[in-house]
Amino acid sequence: MSRDPRYDILFEPVKIGPVTAKNRFFQVPHCNGMGHQHPQAHAAMRGMKAEGGWAVVSTEECEIHPSGDVTPYVEARIWDDHDIPYLSMMTEAVHRHGSLAAVELVHNGPSASNLYSREVPLGPAHQVTNYYPFQARAMDREDIRNYRRWHRDAALRAKKAGFDIVYVYAGHDLSLPMHFLQKRRNQRIDEYGGSLENRVRLFRELIEDAKDAVGDTCGVVVRFAVDEMMGEDGISTEGEAKDIVAMLAELPDLWDVNLSNWKHDSQTSRFAEEGYQEPFTAFVKKLTTKPVVGVGRYTSPDRMVSLIKKGVLDMIGAARPSIADPYLPKKIEEGRLDDIRECIGCNICISGDMTVTPMRCTQNPTQGEEWRKGWHPEIMPAKASNDRILIVGGGPAGLEAARALGLRGHEVALAEASTELGGRVNLESRLPGLAAWGRVRDYRLGQIAKMANVETYLDSRMGAAEVLEQGFERVVLATGSTWRRDGVGRSHAFPIPGFDTATVFSPGDIMAGRLPEKGPVLVYDDDLFYLAGVLAERLVKAGLEVIYVTGADTASSWTANTLEVVFVNKRLRELGIRVICQHDLVAVKDGVAEIASAYGEAPQHLSIGAIVPVTARLPEEALYHDLMAAPEKLKDAGIKSVTRIGDCLAPGFIAYAVYAGHRYARELDAPDLGEVKFRRALPLVTTP
Ligand SMILES: Cc1cc2nc3c(=O)[nH]c(=O)nc-3n(C[C@H](O)[C@H](O)[C@H](O)COP(=O)(O)O)c2cc1C
Ligand code: SF4
Repeated sequence: MSRDPRYDILFEPVKIGPVTAKNRFFQVPHCNGMGHQHPQAHAAMRGMKAEGGWAVVSTEECEIHPSGDVTPYVEARIWDDHDIPYLSMMTEAVHRHGSLAAVELVHNGPSASNLYSREVPLGPAHQVTNYYPFQARAMDREDIRNYRRWHRDAALRAKKAGFDIVYVYAGHDLSLPMHFLQKRRNQRIDEYGGSLENRVRLFRELIEDAKDAVGDTCGVVVRFAVDEMMGEDGISTEGEAKDIVAMLAELPDLWDVNLSNWKHDSQTSRFAEEGYQEPFTAFVKKLTTKPVVGVGRYTSPDRMVSLIKKGVLDMIGAARPSIADPYLPKKIEEGRLDDIRECIGCNICISGDMTVTPMRCTQNPTQGEEWRKGWHPEIMPAKASNDRILIVGGGPAGLEAARALGLRGHEVALAEASTELGGRVNLESRLPGLAAWGRVRDYRLGQIAKMANVETYLDSRMGAAEVLEQGFERVVLATGSTWRRDGVGRSHAFPIPGFDTATVFSPGDIMAGRLPEKGPVLVYDDDLFYLAGVLAERLVKAGLEVIYVTGADTASSWTANTLEVVFVNKRLRELGIRVICQHDLVAVKDGVAEIASAYGEAPQHLSIGAIVPVTARLPEEALYHDLMAAPEKLKDAGIKSVTRIGDCLAPGFIAYAVYAGHRYARELDAPDLGEVKFRRALPLVTTP
């Protein structure tokens, strides 16, 4: 297929100082939990984006000096020349596909931890560090001179490592140039503080230094956060951001503009629509002739075209859309829009960085496996046998297994008990704010529909007898899980007293539209991720009064890892939900729930109409046990293996289910790699 001419504009080259991007697709900096610790994996992941057509592929934050060390988070590092070979792996991987490699030079100032380097953190003024209970010291003029030298040296090293573009970064409240711009952090009385002109001085000098050092061959670009979403207390579009852009307008070779801090920049689909940054960043192009990049979870080619045509942006910036589909540009170029695997805006990727582990993606199970398992997002190995596969269960695990096995060339039958494919994704995507999660299902259905070797069967509940009758060589069970209704979970190993007679609705009931007739409904969050909060919202929107009880310090506490926890808690309060934290639900009797304080205060008694316990799930494994109870029948039926994948093995995130389906397809008939199923980059034991 060839490209639809209406997308031609997306494939025009863009000049960025002395270098030229081959098209308008710009993978903006994003961390990934690999960074300097897993350089091969990092390089392979970036190389895949270049292969998929991104004209510019950036690193994540790249620390330029030990005094800006963000340990335990694993970012890129360019402290001295020893880092060059590792970064060169990435630039070589990117250049192999004709793309430009960019590096985001960063000194985190008072946002650094220095837990590893043990240096004293630095800031524009004496101040408490952003995340830790100790302080950064005020930089004197010599410190500023040193910092400029570190930045310049880092730019020179970046050039040696093969980078084509060097970033000066003033974003996310995470870097010294931004900290110097902020009135609230910069209370200096010298030429670097006070007036806006003085506060801009360091940013300007860093851009000038970088241009002087490497500007002959490298584009020198800025990332600047135009709005911190805190009104006059921060940089804002209505306030100083316009003046800052106007003052530096023609100095950098490109403006990459976004929101700050990170939770505002990388908003989930639950809280923001595609294009959510446009109202804040649209002004930039009016103030500069240099190319402008902006972000906002862009996956729609038509919207991209309209942004360019309307003069809002020159290049389409993307972090998450490039993670979910490294091949997004290529698919547009080849006229394969149906094949785009759109980001669902869940921020599971970000939870990788937050938990200091190589990032994964709900939509793209190959993310993070490019090097260590050799997985390619678009290519599956051809089948190694003619085994036909029966998959029981059409949720995310079953759908992905069917898609990936189908790509390998296997004959696949997917049997679903209900009348629609999608499983838990169907249920969850109907909850408030989660509609975009339906893309997990839609992408796979679209792909499977094109495969003559994959058949789907609805309304086809399978018992052991039916499975044995079918005559498939391989059986995959993806039968999902069921939410418990007895209170057993993280906090309770045994059923909560009184649940047997209380009015209990499981999360599954609520998702299926079976709601309590009267409140107050006590939503008991012992799961700690998103679901209890979303269900509470669903119940309030159905007109019910809701009380939210959790043993954690805050509602939906694990959503801190998806950057949503503040938004969730605000929303619950806006909806009038009474949130009670640090309390456990210990008993229910005669419509009264007893909740006990984690810190020894007297128990509280709440009159309630119903309870929704969000605690734990039980795998749907009856079919598995039925089949395994009679191995001789399996043998007689010619069944070589019965494998459980996804929630029916161990309930987890949707990302885990998709991964499990993909993994099954990859590993079928593959050689056994032993106990460690992936390559590791072990450190060489030497001292620099
Ligand atoms: C996993 C992840 C890590 C990120 N790390 C960085 C980073 O190191 N530096 C940076 O400037 N922005 C970082 N960002 C923000 C992105 O560059 C981008 O501005 C934001 O996600 C909005 O773009 P998107 O909607 O295309 O994802 C990160 C985003 C994600 C999803
Ligand atoms: S994990 Fe979720 S938000 Fe992140 S890229 Fe994948 S689909 Fe998008």
